[in-house]
Amino acid sequence: MSIAPEREHIAPDNLKAVDLLKVAPSSMQITGGKVTIGGVDLLDIARDYGTALFVYDEQHIRRQLREYVRQFASCYPQSHIVYAAKAFCSVAMDHIVAEEGCLVDVASGGELAFAKAASFPMDRVLSQGNNKTPREIAECVDAGVRCFVVDTHEELERISAYALENGKVQPVVLRICPGIEADTHAYIQTANEDSKFGFNIRNGAAEEATKLALSLEGVELVGYHCHIGSQIFELKSYVEAIGTMFAYMNYIRTEYGFVAKNLDLGGGLGIAYTIYDSPSTIAQLAQAIAGAVHDNCAHYDYPYPDLYVEPGRSIVANAGITLYTVGSVKENPGICTYVAVDGGMTDNIRTALYGSKYEAFVVNRADEPRSIICDVVGKHCESGDVIVKNRSLQKCKPGDIICVLGTGAYCNEMASNYNKQVRPGIVMVSNGEVREIVRRETYEDLLRREVL
Ligand code: LLP
Repeated sequence: MSIAPEREHIAPDNLKAVDLLKVAPSSMQITGGKVTIGGVDLLDIARDYGTALFVYDEQHIRRQLREYVRQFASCYPQSHIVYAAKAFCSVAMDHIVAEEGCLVDVASGGELAFAKAASFPMDRVLSQGNNKTPREIAECVDAGVRCFVVDTHEELERISAYALENGKVQPVVLRICPGIEADTHAYIQTANEDSKFGFNIRNGAAEEATKLALSLEGVELVGYHCHIGSQIFELKSYVEAIGTMFAYMNYIRTEYGFVAKNLDLGGGLGIAYTIYDSPSTIAQLAQAIAGAVHDNCAHYDYPYPDLYVEPGRSIVANAGITLYTVGSVKENPGICTYVAVDGGMTDNIRTALYGSKYEAFVVNRADEPRSIICDVVGKHCESGDVIVKNRSLQKCKPGDIICVLGTGAYCNEMASNYNKQVRPGIVMVSNGEVREIVRRETYEDLLRREVL
C-alpha cells in the first residue's frame, strides 16, 4: 500500500515572470526577457557568485523597516520596532537594522554574537528564547541588553542571581501565553493553551511569575510580552490577544498595584508566498494593534504602555530570492516532471516541514509562459527533498537558472549541512551594485570542526 499523498493534477498557469512581481523583491524589473534586482542582471549574479545563492534587495528591506516605523509611529507614538533576527540573521542585516533606528531581538547567544559583531547598540537588543542557558543569560546581562523576555521561573531566578552578583538590575518582561489559536500552521502557533512558550494565564502561572518577578532583587519587571504565532493573515487574533493581555494586566494592577510600562506584542504578520495570497498590510496591522491598545487603555483606564512589535518574516521574506542551476530534468509521463537543482532541503526546509508554496520561474526564459507543472527538487537523499511542489514553471533544460521567490525568511536560517552540503553564499544588491555578505561555505569550513 502506498503512503504517498495523491498528487493533485492541475493545469499550468502560463504566467510569465512579470506576472509574479507581487511576491518579488520590490526592485525586481523584467524588460526584454532580462531580469534585474537593484539594477543588476540576475544571470550576471549567478555567473559571478555561483549557485545555489541567496540574493537580497537591500532597498526592499529598508523600505519594510521604514514602513513599520512610520505606520506605528503615526498610530501610536510610543512604539518600538524590533526586528526578529531569527528570520534572517547576518552581520550585514544587523547593520541595516541599526541604521534604520530599530531594535533587534536575539533568540540565542549566537544571534547576540552577530549583533555584537555588527556593533549593534546593546541597549537596543531584546533577549528571547524559552530556555536560555546560564551562559546565554550571562552574555546578555554582561552585554547590557535592554530587556529579557522571560519564559520560566528558573530563568527569572537565574537572571536575578547573575545580575545581583554583578551589581546590576536587569529589566525583564514576562512572556504570557494568552490562550489564542492564531490562524496559521500548527507548528508556528505559539499562544494556544498547549504551548511550550510563556506563562499561562488560565492556570495561574502568569500570576505566580509576576509575584516572583516583583519579589526578586536583581530584576525589574517592566511589563509583558506575547507572540501569538507566525504567518498570520487574520488581524483579529491580535485584537483578541490584546484584549486578553489587558484584562490580565488590569487584574494584576488591582491585586498587586503593578502597572506595566511595556507591552510587547511579538511578530507574526503574514506575507504573500504565492500571487494568490493576500496578507494584511503593515498599515492595517499598525491600525489594528494601536486601535485595540487605545480601546483597552480607555476601557480599563490603564496608562498607555510603550508598545513593542517584533516583525521578522514581513521585513525580509519577499526581499530575498534563491537562484539555482538546473542539473537534470526527469519526465515521469502522466505523473510529474522533476527539475533537479543544485540545492534543496538544505537551503529551504520550509516546503518539507510546513508544505509551503513558492512561486518560481526560469530566469533565462522569463518571457516564456510557465507551461509545465513540475516539482523543483533538490539533490539530497530523500523524496521529501522538494523546494517547489507541483507548480507551474517554464519548460527548462540543464544549465538554466531558476529563481525561487520569497525565500528571504527562515530559509538560510534553517539551512543544514545534510549530505555535507555546503550552504549557499548570500549577496545583497543595491543601486546597481552587488556585495557578498556571506560567502559560500567550503569543504574546509565543514571539516574545521572535525577532530582529526
Ligand atoms: N517574536 C517572537 C518571540 C518569535 O518567536 C518570532 C518568530 C517572531 C517575533 C517573528 O515572527 P515573524 O514576524 O517572523 O512571523 N520557521 C517558521 C517561523 C517560526 C517563527 C518563530 N518565531 C517558518 O519558516 O515559517
